[in-house]
Amino acid sequence: MATTSDIEKAAGVLRAGGLVAFPTETVYGLGANAEDAAAVARVFQVKGRPPSHPLIVHIGGAQQLGDWVGDVPATARLLAECFWPGPLTLVLRRGRRVSLEATGGLETVAVRVPAHPVALALLSAFGGGVAAPSANRFGSVSPTTADHVRGELGDAVGFVLDGGPCEVGVESTIVDATGEIPSVLRPGGVTREDLEAVLSCPVAVHSTSRVRVPGQHPSHYAPRARVVLVEPEKVVAEAELAQELGHQVGVFLPPSLADAPVKAHAVVSVPSSMAAYARGLYGFLRDLDQQGCDLIVASLPVEEGLGLAIANRLRRAAGPRPS
Ligand code: TXA
Ligand code: MG
Repeated sequence: MATTSDIEKAAGVLRAGGLVAFPTETVYGLGANAEDAAAVARVFQVKGRPPSHPLIVHIGGAQQLGDWVGDVPATARLLAECFWPGPLTLVLRRGRRVSLEATGGLETVAVRVPAHPVALALLSAFGGGVAAPSANRFGSVSPTTADHVRGELGDAVGFVLDGGPCEVGVESTIVDATGEIPSVLRPGGVTREDLEAVLSCPVAVHSTSRVRVPGQHPSHYAPRARVVLVEPEKVVAEAELAQELGHQVGVFLPPSLADAPVKAHAVVSVPSSMAAYARGLYGFLRDLDQQGCDLIVASLPVEEGLGLAIANRLRRAAGPRPS
């Protein structure tokens, strides 16, 4: 676990233009000083991410929001008050302070206050904004432990702060708050229902819009193994057939089939609680890869609450891969 002196050291690395991987309540981030164009460019390089795909600027508190955005509409202020620190990212008009590298040249910027004591301590010790994507290679599964980060990015990161396993497990909900009516660009840790309760109106989810952002790539969040989605009642038959055909099959066994026997290479029992499922999701995908599965058979959860974010990640994991 990160100590106070680790946090001081990490803040020093950021000040010197280096990169720091740090825990948040959602997933681990790969951070750089948001005002340092060269440091931000290194983040893209280490991730192998195209420079046109914008990063999230992490700040220490809602009171700093005005420093990073052009203006703060009343709805954005309300959402920040209700959900920060927490798994909500607000897209707003860009302020001057943030480097254009971090926003991928867009006139908007994504900002959030993470709810993890180590992240907040780092932001407070550093004092500025930290531009950070998830600390994984472009297109692959996001890391939810410090070991995932070390395993995937290794020496390319100046410093990895260990804050234990992430509590939420899927990324933040991204809300476009530039207009009068906010909409969700990526479902995540704050549910649509949570947003609707605060805003007292229906909230649209546009996660398939044509905004040029990484979450839009069909095969984002993908493990090495190919992912196939079927109806829950077909999971066992589909897995056994593929196994018979010579695949090393990993199965996401839905809670309704908890004790069903299944002839496959590896089995994950999907938790019935959506919070536990979200927390475990990326670790399950990584484990099946590590066990040598080449095919993962899963079904989608009911798309309400956190189930919406889980289904979104599974669909993208199952999406067509770049050849
Ligand atoms: O939970 C999270 O959000 C994690 C932790 C580390 O904070 N971060 C994360 O970052 O998931 P990343 O880079 O993997 O995803 C950032 C997302 C992109 O998919 C992009 O869609 C969106 O942020 N984004 C960033 N700037 C944007 C903008 N100006 N307009 C629309 N979307 C934007
Ligand atoms: Mg990511």
